Amino acid sequence: TPCYLNGEFTPLRDAKISVLDRGFIFGDGVYEVVPVYGGHPLRLAQHLARLDRSLAELRIANPLAPAQWHAVIARLLMAAPAADQLVYIQITRGVALRDHAMTTGIAPTVFAMAQPMKPVPAGLRARGAACVSADDFRWQKGHIKSTSLLGAVLARQISVDADATETVLFRDGWLTEASSSNVWVVRGDEVIGTPKGPHVLEGIRYGLIEELCEEAGLRFALRPVARQGVFAADELLLSSATKEVLAVTQLDGQPIGKGVPGPVYERLYAAYQRAKV
Ligand code: PDD
Repeated sequence: TPCYLNGEFTPLRDAKISVLDRGFIFGDGVYEVVPVYGGHPLRLAQHLARLDRSLAELRIANPLAPAQWHAVIARLLMAAPAADQLVYIQITRGVALRDHAMTTGIAPTVFAMAQPMKPVPAGLRARGAACVSADDFRWQKGHIKSTSLLGAVLARQISVDADATETVLFRDGWLTEASSSNVWVVRGDEVIGTPKGPHVLEGIRYGLIEELCEEAGLRFALRPVARQGVFAADELLLSSATKEVLAVTQLDGQPIGKGVPGPVYERLYAAYQRAKV
């Protein structure tokens, strides 16, 4: 499989970067994960806009214009065997002798690859996910889609160790998000998400779920939800490029609502499938 690295397309196994790359040394970079269905990237414009917002926080100029990103992605997808893919994009500040200060005057390292999408296993989709909760010990710049992901790795491992699907995070008792997905609380016909801000990554599914709610006749709101409000929810949902929208039916061993994927999940999942085409 080919990948894109600094202007060239090469087989993934041949792609090499310097050990002095600031992405390797400092995690000084940003990334995107774009789902592709039947060869069509879903919400690519929104992903590229978020990439720009992340890059702006790092004071790195986007090395490619939108049309160039479209061309890179099209070329990667042309070589991709399966119709459903995940496109991964990463930009780091570039290669320089180690110094914490933002190095200027160097070329960023630009990387992209496409990989077959692994759908959520049917059994997990049917039963819903068991999750565990943890204190949100990550940093205060969660709105940047940064490659500095140690916080996410440590948070995710808590659920791996518990044989669970995701780790739902609370900061000072308030729901933020999960280790690599956003969390939605359902009460009646209302879908409630964490307000946008530095404690959450604004998933591209924020906008998509708002639209799907409108289409499904559900109310959509962003407001803080306390821990007891999450456990008392009628339904709980996760969303991400890879999970799409997924029901959470257990949290810390306690059932959420009736303990099975609920009607709001079913409506949003069906609407999500229609939005793919
Ligand atoms: N993760 N919150 C966090 C911390 C995330 O890492 C992600 C995505 C999301 C959901 O964002 P979106 O709807 O744009 O996928 C929320 C990606 C999939 C990843 O790191 O692989």
